[in-house]
Amino acid sequence: MTLENVSLNVPELGVAMIGSGLMAKSHTMGYRNVESVYGSTPYRPRFEVLADATADLARTGAESLGYRRWTTDWREAVRDPAVDVVDIVTPNFLHKEIAMEAISAGKHVYCEKPLALNAADAKEMYDAAEAAGVKTLVGFNYLRNPAIAEARRLISSGALGEIWTFTGRFVLDACTDPDVPFTWRFERKLSGSGALGDLGAHMISLALSLVGPIASVASQSRTFITTRPEPTGVFGYGSGADLQAPRREVENDDATTFLIDFASGASGTIEASRVATGRTWHQSIEVIGSKGALQFVQQDIHTLRLYLTGDTADRKGYREIELGPQHGDYGAFWPFAGVPLGVHELKTIEVHEWLNAIAENRTPDGDFRDGWHVSEVLERVEQSAAERRWIDVPTI
Ligand code: NAI
Repeated sequence: MTLENVSLNVPELGVAMIGSGLMAKSHTMGYRNVESVYGSTPYRPRFEVLADATADLARTGAESLGYRRWTTDWREAVRDPAVDVVDIVTPNFLHKEIAMEAISAGKHVYCEKPLALNAADAKEMYDAAEAAGVKTLVGFNYLRNPAIAEARRLISSGALGEIWTFTGRFVLDACTDPDVPFTWRFERKLSGSGALGDLGAHMISLALSLVGPIASVASQSRTFITTRPEPTGVFGYGSGADLQAPRREVENDDATTFLIDFASGASGTIEASRVATGRTWHQSIEVIGSKGALQFVQQDIHTLRLYLTGDTADRKGYREIELGPQHGDYGAFWPFAGVPLGVHELKTIEVHEWLNAIAENRTPDGDFRDGWHVSEVLERVEQSAAERRWIDVPTI
């Protein structure tokens, strides 16, 4: 028996993907997987068009990711009447221009982090989307983690008591080798900040989500590797290096660490580094409260460590909660506990929230307002490092 008629009942959503790098892959996988993972979807994505900077990149990207058409002109993709949502997965400097064009064409916009190069641009993007009444989302995929969902639940239920400190680290050694080539991530006008915007933005989104608004920050930044070779390819982490050509000056931070005053009175620290030798890829948080504490390491994604002061003296210590179907959206993937999910699966959870928010005509969790909030913090962290003093973060 054919399922064709059943399938036709699901409305389609035309997707324009702007960029064909790592995040284009992750977003496309998310769209493609929502229906299989959750068993239903409010919209079935129609992979309408993919845009990239060169014909070669656009054609290869469209072919490998399964888009119907490709173009080298992102404006053409954004304005296409068959497109309902625009996914912005380009280097950071293009986010605002593409988003503003998409918003003015009445499209919903799903943009990668950091939302913009500075807070004023992020606010402009948020205001424009509000005025146009389109839905928006920023790619803070770590917020979707079942462990973070459980951490949020524990904190808001009061299980940890009053929250005293937040510690977040997102450190990796992808750029420890001085011959990692000079791609867009090292150039200020294309990327904005370095490790701070790339990695720290995720930790700020987690801090805001778990502990609440940030009142002020005190920061220090370092660029340890000051020059890098030209890339042989154009974009991305995977580019080769041209070791014969003159080296380029690195224009943003390799590592940034900052102290946080939360509006609630809690304190915190965040460390972001792309040159954390030996830390191949490490992301972790620790939240300490008056009645308990929790620890989470992204690479041990199946466990959340919980300490409660109410435990009897003979049971004192951290317990490991094996994440399972009771936590966040875990159950959509596995019917039993303890199986590690992957980062692309967090993206699927994010896309599920995106499609449902559009269908239900509500603000998605993690919209441009949240992206703007993170950008306000990012900007103050940079200012604090430059001026070597505490800087207040405006209330949003
Ligand atoms: P990438 O360098 O792999 O891909 C960027 C893509 O944009 C490339 O295909 C490039 O050719 C394309 N592009 C450049 N100029 C263009 C133009 N004028 N028109 C159309 N396409 C153009 O970068 P990646 O890693 O995919 O990062 C993209 C965005 O995603 C960045 O904002 C980054 O911060 C964010 N990101 C988010 C992650 C997350 O966990 N949420 C992880 C990695 C990146």
